Amino acid sequence: NRLGSEQPGDQSSCQPPPIKLGIMASGSGSNFEAIAQAIERKELNATIEVVIYNNPTATVAQRAMRLGVPSKLMDHRTYETREALDNAIAAQLKTDQVDWVIMAGWMRRVTQQLLSAFQGRILNIHPSLLPSIPGIRAVEQALAAQVKITGCSVHLVELIVDSGPIIMQAAVPVLPTDTPATLQARIQVQEHRIFPQAIAIAAHQANTSFEQQPT
Ligand code: GAR
Repeated sequence: NRLGSEQPGDQSSCQPPPIKLGIMASGSGSNFEAIAQAIERKELNATIEVVIYNNPTATVAQRAMRLGVPSKLMDHRTYETREALDNAIAAQLKTDQVDWVIMAGWMRRVTQQLLSAFQGRILNIHPSLLPSIPGIRAVEQALAAQVKITGCSVHLVELIVDSGPIIMQAAVPVLPTDTPATLQARIQVQEHRIFPQAIAIAAHQANTSFEQQPT
């Protein structure tokens, strides 16, 4: 048995099994790669089972290939409804026995289909300090609103876009010289730092609250 293989003083029995992640991405995939690197550095006890992407040209697919992670194109244009897409995604993630779904630059609204399949176990990253500036083009919106501080948020996903309990945030000052590209680059540095930490925190919180349920 598993315990039988341990050496005296071996702490591995205290370590919970790795969290199985399924990544959903629409674009570059730099957050996916940051999570993969955190796993590689053993800062996050997880495995990435699959990367699902919806745009045939998304460069996240190349990153996945380079990192040896299986990827699957699920092009939203080939599904009749949002629900049909989410049902297919949920089925794939279940096939891959994923514990947590990580939206790392997923640019589609989710439906109850996916939410019900992974109740309370879907995380999203958004480039603003939610609940300020939800929705698309959050970096451009921050510049247009002339805010002096913006940032990024990792939150549990609910039906309303960019809502749901916030797990972790990082603040980023807006500089007078900022363009959308320079501000986004500084926000992404913070995203890459907090996303792996937020995954660990959310998984820990979920396990803890599960353990506290009355039997
Ligand atoms: C990230 O900056 C993330 O905050 C944003 O997409 C980018 C994806 O970058 N997500 C949203 O705007 C969701 N509303 P990446 O593909 O390099 O990880």
